[in-house]
Amino acid sequence: MLTLGIESSCDDTAAAVLQDDSTLLSSVLTSQDQIHTRFGGVVPELASRCHLESIVPVVNESLKRAKITISDIDLIAVTQGPGLIGSLLVGFSYAKALSYISKIPFVGVDHMAGHILSVFLEEDKPEFPFIALVVSGGTSSIYRADTFTKFTLLGRTRDDAAGEAFDKVAKLLGFPYPGGPVISHEAQSGDNEAIQFPRSWLEKGSLDFSFSGLKTSVLNHCNREKQKNNPLQLADICASFQEAAVEVLVEKTLLAASQQSIQNIVLGGGVSSNPRLRQLMERRCSEDGKKLHIPRPSYCTDNGAMIAIAGVHSHRENSEFSYDLDVYSRSAL
Ligand code: KG4
Repeated sequence: MLTLGIESSCDDTAAAVLQDDSTLLSSVLTSQDQIHTRFGGVVPELASRCHLESIVPVVNESLKRAKITISDIDLIAVTQGPGLIGSLLVGFSYAKALSYISKIPFVGVDHMAGHILSVFLEEDKPEFPFIALVVSGGTSSIYRADTFTKFTLLGRTRDDAAGEAFDKVAKLLGFPYPGGPVISHEAQSGDNEAIQFPRSWLEKGSLDFSFSGLKTSVLNHCNREKQKNNPLQLADICASFQEAAVEVLVEKTLLAASQQSIQNIVLGGGVSSNPRLRQLMERRCSEDGKKLHIPRPSYCTDNGAMIAIAGVHSHRENSEFSYDLDVYSRSAL
């Protein structure tokens, strides 16, 4: 069975061809980072226009690299939400049209399910049930996954997503968008204990996150240093901010595993490509006797392969589809 996965929820146009459950034949992505970087964040209208230009070449390239044509495809899986409505509409409408003219069934996929399941693209696959920490530019959530289609939300951010906090802190430090990779790079030469930024644990036992206070603390620290005419120690600020964000992500994920008595932990979403998050999570999982599964960085960020894998399982459970389906901006998961 060959599945074409299409992703266009934010600022990456991506397509991939998956054979059966997890054999990836091709994965193609065009990033719009260069376009949005001068605005310090994603401009929705520009993102939609770029998707319009990229969607056909990206899908065609994914078929070409898999050495197949559209007539070989058995299922089209496409991101239905959450995301930017204009961006989603480009991929979703294209997938519907391709499905209609090629007489291939299609399935709408929740982007979060894609991030939760992207780890199945790797050789070493987790066993169910597992705890999934999904951290990206749009979300920071902890799920319990019981099957390929049954996910229970255990906690989520009450304000900024973790990636959003990285991007906003980077912006206030004068770094380009996307800020996460720049901050993690700067942090390598900094001291993560130089500045004691606050950790937001919320109520005892809570699995929710809050990152807006941390972001404000970085802003206040920078303003104080400027008032004293001190030069900003950028590497130390990045390392200390990153440590505060990562520590909360790691400890709340382990708390979820302990509350649910679950041994397996999975990471997904763009922020899970952060080297310090991966390192600390590995260390803490080994201390607590948990088995950790993290996809390689290219599967952590948005991609078409994760949409294909989630689509295959969702279609297996329910193969009915309708051209009346529409996109949505907020996740149902
Ligand atoms: O999953 P993704 O590609 O797109 C969304 O669905 O949002 O994640 C993008 C987010 C951005 O906020 C970006 O700054 C962040 O992931 N990110 C990182 C790193 N690489 C990407 N955050 C922290 N450290 C990184 N190394």
